Amino acid sequence: MSKILVTGGTGFIGSHTVVELQEAGYGVIIVDNLSNSKAETVDNIEKITGVRPEFENFDLSDRGAVLNFFLRHKGEINAVIHFAAFKAVGESVHKPLEYYRNNVNSLMNILEGMKYTGVANLVFSSSCTVYGQPDKLPVTEGTPRKPAESPYGNTKTVNEDIIRDFCHEEKQINGLALRYFNPIGAHPSSLIGESPVGIPNNLVPYITQTAAGLRKELSIFGDDYDTPDGTPIRDYIDVVDLSKAHVVAIKRLLEGKNKSNYEYFNIGTGKGLSVLELVNAFKKATGVALPYKIVGRRAGDIVKIWADTTLANTELGWKAEVPIEQTLLNAWNWEKRCRGIK
Ligand code: UD1
Repeated sequence: MSKILVTGGTGFIGSHTVVELQEAGYGVIIVDNLSNSKAETVDNIEKITGVRPEFENFDLSDRGAVLNFFLRHKGEINAVIHFAAFKAVGESVHKPLEYYRNNVNSLMNILEGMKYTGVANLVFSSSCTVYGQPDKLPVTEGTPRKPAESPYGNTKTVNEDIIRDFCHEEKQINGLALRYFNPIGAHPSSLIGESPVGIPNNLVPYITQTAAGLRKELSIFGDDYDTPDGTPIRDYIDVVDLSKAHVVAIKRLLEGKNKSNYEYFNIGTGKGLSVLELVNAFKKATGVALPYKIVGRRAGDIVKIWADTTLANTELGWKAEVPIEQTLLNAWNWEKRCRGIK
């Protein structure tokens, strides 16, 4: 059985990916310092899959701790999926050093640990944020990256470059970056999902918290954009679909099917939805009315982006499958479970 190190494995995308890996027969070791997640997620992963992943709690930006981990597990780990990172865009503007220190050092420590203990495969959690506002839509992997709008976004660009340069030199190591569009939803079991701390920044957690009565109304940030209904367009990807892309990526690397030792793929649905379309889909899926008001634009928001997923479809053999209403219903069921709503 191949064993995968999943950093950030108790987080939103990480926990769903651990479930899919275990269901596909992989062994998992989670490393997470629980800075933005809870230990009980490990229990819930066990409830879903019947298998308890190994779990270690330490800070990946601590070089000594990371090298010690890789030495202790020498010969045991076949691949790494690296999710662990700070991810609040707004916060990153105010705390740039914290973001660079955490997100960039963690990656470098992991690469170093991989090199010294012979771990050959890395899947990296990147983002469509590396494209900025593209000149042409949909975006392919050939679309040029643009300067990042925030320190958070820049850590994704810089980390892609670090992996590219490292793999260029270390031919025995394979890197594969997945550029996620907007991950949303929750596991259909309602046992794991997204748990933002404080007031959510992202659209779907804000919607579900508003529907649950925690927030008075959703503020829609601008309806005067150059889009059909004036609200911004994104490519919302179901978190379970997204997690399955990681399993496929791992399999590709372990089977040596990668075409070069650094590859990157867009992971989205290929379909753009406006904020208003998403709000309407939520109402249709759940039957819950959602109070909202239109307010001013949010600084740093791009107008529209969605993926061309041809490369992921053909090369990875992966395709988004869950319909948006089902994804939103799963997100709502998760919120209800968290709040004790029947
Ligand atoms: C943001 C980040 C992206 C990051 C992603 C996941 C930016 C520019 N991009 O994406 O790098 O990977 O989060 O963390 O910040 N909206 C509202 N009301 C709300 C919340 C959001 O109208 O209360 C709108 C936004 O204006 C946007 C859409 O919903 O048009 C999606 O927003 P959000 O979920 O925050 O994701 P992004 O901004 O696309």
